[in-house]
Amino acid sequence: MHKTLYVIKDDKPEKAIIRTYGPHDFTGLIDIQRACFPPPFPEELWWSKEQLGEHVDRFQAGALCAEAGGRLIGSMTGLIVNMSDYGAKHSWEAVTDNGYIRNHNPDGDTLYVVDICVLPEYRKSGVGKWLMQSMYETVVQLGLERLLGGGRMPGYGAYADQLSPEEYVQHVISGKLKDPVVTFLMRCGRMPVGLAHDYLEDEQSRNCAVIMEWKNPFK
Ligand SMILES: CC(C)(COP(=O)(O)OP(=O)(O)OC[C@H]1O[C@@H](n2cnc3c(N)ncnc32)[C@H](O)[C@@H]1OP(=O)(O)O)[C@@H](O)C(=O)NCCC(=O)NCCS
Repeated sequence: MHKTLYVIKDDKPEKAIIRTYGPHDFTGLIDIQRACFPPPFPEELWWSKEQLGEHVDRFQAGALCAEAGGRLIGSMTGLIVNMSDYGAKHSWEAVTDNGYIRNHNPDGDTLYVVDICVLPEYRKSGVGKWLMQSMYETVVQLGLERLLGGGRMPGYGAYADQLSPEEYVQHVISGKLKDPVVTFLMRCGRMPVGLAHDYLEDEQSRNCAVIMEWKNPFK
């Protein structure tokens, strides 16, 4: 995967590249994690070089980054699994092997998203959507059934004393509330198919995630 396109930052088009990442990108990728997942998000959930090495060695087609002005501005990582091995009530740790993807199964049916993040100063410029679009293209290219992943719901924390996670998600789906991640995923064409409790240690989301799917339209 390698493509050049424009992202629109502060109303100004800026040339960007979406490509697979390699070992020379690891430091930049960890810097993005640091900027994207500040406390209270647990620091030990940021990528380590060991995890990134596994992504590149096991499934480089699922290891994507975005670059602009000679620096990395975002990344998205996935692995292939057979969803029947995990079931609807899965956790991030189980499906992604805690981010190491040693369970990557080239014969699986689902491209599962381990992570997507974009530098704060490049948000709402279309970078996340282009990364997602590129991963959809990978799903089609590999003839997989779907892309699936658990979307954080960081806006939930502010409503946790008034709404159940299910009610909060319904409000986001109906448009009554907006969530920084779930609304983004809906804008990317992902469909909510379930809600996982105890998905990932994530105080803002109260450890919940919306499982969201994109089906290969050619299958
Ligand atoms: C979620 C994230 C990847 C979105 O990336 P991004 O590059 O800002 O998203 P884009 O600019 O491509 O936005 C795509 C669409 O989603 C919408 N969107 C993006 N962020 C949004 C927000 N906070 N609230 C509402 N809508 C949002 C955009 O308006 C855009 O809509 P459009 O298609 O009508 O133009 C980014 O905010 C991020 O890195 N967050 C922190 C890390 C994180 O929590 N990742 C999710 C792990 S599950």
